[in-house]
Amino acid sequence: MKEKLLEVKSRAMDLLAKTDKKEEIENLRVQFLGKKGEITALLRTMGSLPAEERPEMGKLANEIREKLEGEISDYKRNIDNKIKADKLANEKIDVTMPSDYQMVGRRHPLMLVKEELEEVFLNMGYDVIEGPEVDTVKNNFDDLNAPKDHPSRDKSDTFYLSDDIVLRTQTSTVQIRTMKNQNPPIKMVSAGRTFRFDEVDDTHSPMFHQMECLVVDKGITMANLKDSIDQFVREMFGENMQTRFRPHNFPFTEPSAEVDVSCFKCKGKGCPACNGTGWSMELLGCGMVHPNVLKNCGIDPDEYSGFAFGIGVDRLTMIKYGITDIRMLFENDARFLQQF
Ligand code: DAH
Repeated sequence: MKEKLLEVKSRAMDLLAKTDKKEEIENLRVQFLGKKGEITALLRTMGSLPAEERPEMGKLANEIREKLEGEISDYKRNIDNKIKADKLANEKIDVTMPSDYQMVGRRHPLMLVKEELEEVFLNMGYDVIEGPEVDTVKNNFDDLNAPKDHPSRDKSDTFYLSDDIVLRTQTSTVQIRTMKNQNPPIKMVSAGRTFRFDEVDDTHSPMFHQMECLVVDKGITMANLKDSIDQFVREMFGENMQTRFRPHNFPFTEPSAEVDVSCFKCKGKGCPACNGTGWSMELLGCGMVHPNVLKNCGIDPDEYSGFAFGIGVDRLTMIKYGITDIRMLFENDARFLQQF
């Protein structure tokens, strides 16, 4: 009996040691400890033993049963732990791994140029002012000295929201607003969106951007205007840049001029980008503030004078970055915008 018990025990232990699956362990449990299991069967034969052997054999059989039960539950627990550990190892996240590609937004080229312009003028002592995109006919035309029959007032040129409210056609409205609200000396720039009834093509868009500049004080002359523009151009584009003033006509300035700047690409030598002229054309309009405009804003033209200029921000951006079609600035094609 004793040998039998020990033999069953060691066989059970050997088989247990060879398994690593929960089902196999369960099968072994049934095989040895189940209702019809080998140990159970041996315990049942206990009755046929001589009475003096029974206590010892009973004790041994119970010890072996308990030992096997303990071993089986240990094996089961170890397997559960191993499964858990494998799962954890597989599900581990390496937070140092690079993530999937995420598109990151960029500054729009127009905003880059606008901010660069503002920075240059701030450093030259100008205030940066905001103005509304919807404004009165009075601020957009009348007080800017535009004749009543000026073609730009036409409904085919300007977006009218009502008879006396428009989408501003120029940032010059902010000159008027500032002069009405502030006493000289005035030194301001204001950039923003402007609107005109233009057919869309590679250089025209019904919505575009300007930056306005206004200086009003005692004794301001054309020399100050020219010097300020030269200084701004050199700050913005570099020391060797030249400017060229061509006479022009604007209702709100007298005299008026258009300004060309040395070609950004060839710096004046002549290249395909400037058609061999060496000049980037019509970058800004400028002039001495018309006395009527000062008067319209309650400033005495006998005491004060001023100069103003308006920069085409879209044009400047296109020249700076070599963009040949203005529509690219407004289509928001990520492949285009990613380049800046
Ligand atoms: N407002 C003009 C335009 O839209 C640009 C301009 C020209 C602005 C001369 C000025 C200026 O302030 O003095 O074409």
